[in-house]
Amino acid sequence: MTGAVLEGRDLARFYTVNRGLFKADATVKALNGVSFSLHSGKTLAVVGESGCGKSTLARLVTMIENPTSGQLLIDGKPAHVGDRSLRSQVQIVFQNPYGSLNPRQKVGSILEEPLKINTNLDAAARRRKVEEMMARVGLRPEHYGRYPHMFSGGQRQRIAIARALILRPKVLVLDEPVSALDLSIQAQVLNLLMDLQKEMGLAYLFISHGLSVVHHIADEVMVMYLGRPVETGPAAEVFARPRHPYTAALLSATPIADPDREKTRIRLQGELPSPLKPPSGCHFNPRCWKAQDHCRQVSPELTGEGAHQYACHFPLD
Ligand SMILES: Nc1ncnc2c1ncn2[C@@H]1O[C@H](COP(=O)(O)OP(=O)(O)O)[C@@H](O)[C@H]1O
Ligand SMILES: [Mg+2]
Repeated sequence: MTGAVLEGRDLARFYTVNRGLFKADATVKALNGVSFSLHSGKTLAVVGESGCGKSTLARLVTMIENPTSGQLLIDGKPAHVGDRSLRSQVQIVFQNPYGSLNPRQKVGSILEEPLKINTNLDAAARRRKVEEMMARVGLRPEHYGRYPHMFSGGQRQRIAIARALILRPKVLVLDEPVSALDLSIQAQVLNLLMDLQKEMGLAYLFISHGLSVVHHIADEVMVMYLGRPVETGPAAEVFARPRHPYTAALLSATPIADPDREKTRIRLQGELPSPLKPPSGCHFNPRCWKAQDHCRQVSPELTGEGAHQYACHFPLD
C-alpha cells in the first residue's frame, strides 16, 4: 500500500437515531469495515443502491465528518476534520449542480472564491487561473460573467468540476456526478473527467448507484450493500466474473454489451431492508437465491484470490 493518495483502513461510521418517545435510540451502521487504497491517475468506483453508505463515505473522505472507527489517510497522513492543509487535497462534485452552485453568483466569482479563501493571489492572477480552468473544462471566456441558471445541466456540471479543480487537489470525489444528466450529456461529462484525470494525474472516488456508468472509467470497483463492501477488486475482473450474487444482480440489470456473457437476467427479490434492522448473518440473505441457513447465521468476511475479494459463503463460479 505505498504511494496511495487516499487510503481507508477499516472505516466505520455509525449514527444514533432518536426514534421518538418510548422507543430506545437505534444505531444505523451507515458504513462498516470499508478499506481501500487509491493511487494518482486511478479511479475507484463505489457502487450500490440508495442507502448503502456511498454519501457517508464521501463525507468521511472529504473530512466533513470523522469516522466512528478506522482511519483515513490522505497522501499517507492521518486525516481529521478541521485539518485545512489536507482538506484542500480532496474536493467533491455533487450529483445536483443546481443545489451546489449559488444562483446569485456569477461563474467567475464562483470559481475565484476558493482562490480568495485559500491563496494570496491578486485579482489579476486569480482571473488568469479561472480563465485557464474554464478553458480546460470546455467553458468559453464569455461564460465568466454569466449566472448558473443560464447554463444547461451538463455545462453546470462543468462549472462544478472547474470549481473542484481550481485548487489543484489530488483527489476528486464524484458523488453520482452524471446521474441527473441526459444520456448523451453523461458521455460528454465522463469523457471530460477522463481527459482531466490523464492531464492532471487525478485520483477519482467515483460514486454510482449502477455499474453501467462506471464501466469505462473505473480501475477498481467496490460494491456496497447496507454499509458493507460485498465485493471489491480490479474493475475488469469484477465485471467479467462477479463472485457475489449481489454484484451479479447489479450487472444483470446493466445494459453493457458483452457477447461472451450469458444474458440471464437476475431479478432481485424483496425490498432493501431497513438499515436500522439489517438481516442477521449476511445482510443480503433475504434477497439472495443462493442463501442457506449458514448465511442467515454467520456474516461472511471478505476473502478471495489476490485483489479480487468477496464476502459470500457460496460465491458464484
Ligand atoms: N446523519 C445521519 N443520521 C442518521 N442516519 C444517517 C445519517 N446519514 C446517513 N444516514 C443513514 O445511513 C445510511 C447510508 O446513507 P447514505 O450514505 O446517504 O447512503 P447512499 O448515499 O448510498 O444513498 C442510510 O440508511 C441513511 O439513512
Ligand atoms: Mg448518496
